[in-house]
Amino acid sequence: MASESDTERKRLLFEDHLNRIAYGHISFELYRAGFEFGLYDLLKKKPGLRLEEVASAISLRPYPAEVLLIGVAALDLVRKEGDKWYISEEFGKHLDSEKYKEFRISDADYMHRIVGPAARTLVDSLRAEKNLGLPELYGPKAANFYEELGKNEAHFASFTRRMSALTRLNIEKVAANPIFGQKKNVLDVGGNTGYLAIEITKHHKATRATTIDLPVVIGKTEALFKKSENSSRLAAIGSNIFTEKLPRGYDCIVFAHFTPIFSVSRVKKFLADTFEALDSGGCVCLYNGHADPNKPGSAFHGIFGAYFEFLAGGAGLYHEKPSYMAWMKEIGYAKIEVHPMDFNEALLIGHKA
Ligand SMILES: C[S@@+](CC[C@H](N)C(=O)[O-])C[C@H]1O[C@@H](n2cnc3c(N)ncnc32)[C@H](O)[C@@H]1O
Repeated sequence: MASESDTERKRLLFEDHLNRIAYGHISFELYRAGFEFGLYDLLKKKPGLRLEEVASAISLRPYPAEVLLIGVAALDLVRKEGDKWYISEEFGKHLDSEKYKEFRISDADYMHRIVGPAARTLVDSLRAEKNLGLPELYGPKAANFYEELGKNEAHFASFTRRMSALTRLNIEKVAANPIFGQKKNVLDVGGNTGYLAIEITKHHKATRATTIDLPVVIGKTEALFKKSENSSRLAAIGSNIFTEKLPRGYDCIVFAHFTPIFSVSRVKKFLADTFEALDSGGCVCLYNGHADPNKPGSAFHGIFGAYFEFLAGGAGLYHEKPSYMAWMKEIGYAKIEVHPMDFNEALLIGHKA
């Protein structure tokens, strides 16, 4: 039986957990400020600094430095022993990985500039079943989040830096998959500035890769392809796949971090349109994260998934893996492969007979 002190400890831990959520706006800005001031790098390089030493190293006076340190200590990102400050063990290990560090920094910028202000519309967006974050950010005439991002240089840069950093958590493992060597002509739908297509052509020397994205985005993709050492095997198409048919002649069609933006009926339509567009013997590849409510490590997909409702697409969600597999079977894909990735992501491959 749990002792009275155990019960009290659990109660206090839960109360702390709740307070981090209840004051989530401030928690997030404290976390982000730690990156902005270089506090985490400093404490990793120089563990055991005193307040005055931290303050001088991050160019703050002792009072604001203390506000920051006490705040991020309450979030378990740093800790104090006596009068000395250290990075917390797990956070330090997380930041040892350059790709996770880049993801966290770019993600914090994107949340601060774009997602945070739009998230204030969540309650109204849920009631209206509409992404009311879109007019909140871009005015009443805004109709498509990705078009608006493409038109706003600073927002597009923040979005693409964060999106490519998320994709880079697994890009090596995805692009190295033998499927891309077995196919000749890969189409990456919603491929943004083409980083996955470039990586695929690096890993598979005979494969051609084409990126489709909105016309407002594709000029940037083309410019990057021109600079790539594999430019002769890379192509870019500007197209809105809601209004234009998927091009023919591809034996592998990829959707990376794309399907969660849209409703179940849209995703099924993409899968059916792809089935029709593919050469026989071709395949569809879905690479993204999945909701898995009871699995440790699934908070990202549970929480961030709401963004597809209140801002990005107005009807999306991180779906569960078995749902995707059932939809693929329903449409007629003969064999489905599942390749697990880090960060609760997976590459699902559906083969057309
Ligand atoms: C969430 S991002 C994913 C980018 C990239 N695939 C990745 O995994 O990092 C979605 C991309 O789809 C593009 N997109 C959105 N709607 C589109 C449409 N209707 N037709 C073509 N591209 C679209 C966006 O411009 C954006 O680059």
